[in-house]
Amino acid sequence: MITISLLAGLLALLLYQRMTYPFFWVDLMYYLKLRRYGRTLQARMQQGIITYLDCFIYQARKNPNKPFIIFENQTLTYQDVDRRSNQFANAFRTEGSLKQGDIVALLMFNEPDFICVWLGLCKLGCEVAFLNVNIKAQSLLHCFHSCGARTLVVGADLVRLVEEVLPGLKKDSMAVWVLDHTSPSEDCNSLLDKVELMSGETLSDHPKVDIMSNFLFIFTSGTTGLSKAARVGHLKAILSMAFFQMCGATSEDIIYITLPLYHMSASLLGVGGCIQLGATCVLKKKFSASQFWKDCVKHNVTVVQYIGELCRYLFNHPTVPEERAHSVRLFAGSGLRSDVWKQFVQRFGRIKIREGYGLTETSIGFLNYTEEVGPIGRASYFNKLSMAFELLRYDPQTYEPVRTPSGRCIRAQIGEAGILVAPLTAMNQFLGYAGNQIQSEKKLLRDVFKAGDVYFNTGDLLLHDYRDFLYFRDRIGDTFRWKGENVSTTEVSEVLGLLDFIQEANIYGVTIPGYEGRAGMAAIVLKQDHNLNGTKLYNHLVKSLPAYAWPWFLRMQASLDVTETFKQQKVKLVQEGFDPDVTQDLLYFLDVSKKDYILLTVSLYQDIVSGKFKL
Ligand SMILES: *[C@@H]1O[C@H](CO)[C@@H](O)[C@H](O)[C@H]1NC(C)=O
Ligand SMILES: *[C@@H]1O[C@H](CO)[C@@H](O)[C@H](O)[C@H]1NC(C)=O
Ligand SMILES: *[C@@H]1O[C@H](CO)[C@@H](O)[C@H](O)[C@H]1NC(C)=O
Ligand SMILES: *[C@@H]1O[C@H](CO)[C@@H](O)[C@H](O)[C@H]1NC(C)=O
Ligand SMILES: *[C@@H]1O[C@H](CO)[C@@H](O)[C@H](O)[C@H]1NC(C)=O
Repeated sequence: MITISLLAGLLALLLYQRMTYPFFWVDLMYYLKLRRYGRTLQARMQQGIITYLDCFIYQARKNPNKPFIIFENQTLTYQDVDRRSNQFANAFRTEGSLKQGDIVALLMFNEPDFICVWLGLCKLGCEVAFLNVNIKAQSLLHCFHSCGARTLVVGADLVRLVEEVLPGLKKDSMAVWVLDHTSPSEDCNSLLDKVELMSGETLSDHPKVDIMSNFLFIFTSGTTGLSKAARVGHLKAILSMAFFQMCGATSEDIIYITLPLYHMSASLLGVGGCIQLGATCVLKKKFSASQFWKDCVKHNVTVVQYIGELCRYLFNHPTVPEERAHSVRLFAGSGLRSDVWKQFVQRFGRIKIREGYGLTETSIGFLNYTEEVGPIGRASYFNKLSMAFELLRYDPQTYEPVRTPSGRCIRAQIGEAGILVAPLTAMNQFLGYAGNQIQSEKKLLRDVFKAGDVYFNTGDLLLHDYRDFLYFRDRIGDTFRWKGENVSTTEVSEVLGLLDFIQEANIYGVTIPGYEGRAGMAAIVLKQDHNLNGTKLYNHLVKSLPAYAWPWFLRMQASLDVTETFKQQKVKLVQEGFDPDVTQDLLYFLDVSKKDYILLTVSLYQDIVSGKFKL
């Protein structure tokens, strides 16, 4: 009797739960999976496996002969990478006198030695700063100063990029190492000839590290001026390594990584996630839409790490036979729009998508683990247990959080977009930007719900719907995303301001149908008695900024409207976009083939919007 009523009660409960809270089980399962990962970590920590490097060494001992990196026609096992990174460590120690605590900048394309150099430096206890390969020579010094690096390691194929500043670096007593057998100039040292003479045996001493200390510097585009070196702690690195496991990948998987390793997503989530599983990674120097499915078939790839742009490039590429003959079962990454996703599975077969959200600076992150199209994650009770966050109501003019008369912030309502903020805790550290106290402080919100509390402000707008799904809405503030990179509006406007004919340049991003992110646009006021010289502007951009930061559109203004605040003006300009029918101002478009800016006519506008003319 008792059992029957118990059963009936349970059934009723299940039915009730299905109706009112349909995602209860997936939420709970995900939470338990996270808990299990936490327990695995704890158990490993008790064995002394604490850091990213420890985790790699653990896998190299456990599965020495398992292939770790496949790159072009090379295959390196875990042991190969372990030994080669020992050789690098020994070379840097004996030839470069590097020691624990030294900061080393790394400027390399994706290749196995990127990982071997990095792990080698970790073995010496050095902190590594990853430089974006699109960097311009003039910005190098700024990067070194901001993170305190005294040594630069540069790939053989990137030497030409730093050539012009080599003498200056030498004068500054920066040590420069080139990954080559011979040195191209007397201002730098060759590295590979020395590495080959070194022993690959394990180093006898193992520097002690504090899990709460800094592991890496990763440059992110800042709100003011040049890029900032975000500190990435050991804890954040080890948490990131859970990525593929949480997405459902296993040690049997073959993971395809085409994203640049100098970004956190490829180096920590991607390669780190692969190490965590003890899986194999097919590394690609650069993403290529025409090679993509061919590579997947050739290497039996099962898991791909993506950003939204990558999926769109694949989708826009003409059909290849391999696109339905592959064994890829999982795409894990971020920035995929739901319109692309639906067409994506129709064309490329049944592939599971795991969409996530994460930042370089802190640990806050979400993962879309349900079968719903569109959201980046869940905001359920269980999620909040493992990662606290809030969405705050904001002022649409200033994008600042709205405060009550008593100075407190207000939570955004269900269905209303809000600024994502996360309280700083031991698990959610923010180590700040190196040498930039002011910028670090700017990312923090204080006295949010009570006096003295501190939150990290992500600057991202998210929406929480009534079913507890989270949707990404926009990135606010003074950066916008284009081609998978952040563009700092102030950096671009400072660069434009150096031209003799420009009085003022106001930079913002505009959306174009069919593209992820925003394309750069500049509202320009010319100096009196000066004309726009498009060729000169183009040449200046080529010298000073990576291509993704170039303004594609110009809007010529007689003066900046002083009745409105700077922020109000920007909001209006963004809304008006680059449609010649909306404004009387002359608009120009960057025609790269002509190396010049050309007048943006109504028909050119139509061609861009309809996708006939591709950017
Ligand atoms: C690997 O490929 C490169 C060119 O991509 C070639 O120069 C080299 O000889 C190849 N090595 C082997 C072992 O096949
Ligand atoms: C891919 O898988 C097939 C069938 O399972 C196997 O015959 C082939 O050797 C594999 N190729 C590689 C590169 O592992
Ligand atoms: C873009 O900026 C955000 C916020 O500063 C940062 O977390 C992220 O890593 C940056 N992304 C890239 C690709 O630099
Ligand atoms: C979330 O995951 C589900 C299933 O794995 C997928 O259908 C959906 O498209 C994903 N959401 C996004 C934004 O990719
Ligand atoms: C534009 O600038 C270039 C130099 O960069 C100069 O050669 C050219 O004459 C200028 N054009 C005009 C129309 O002033």
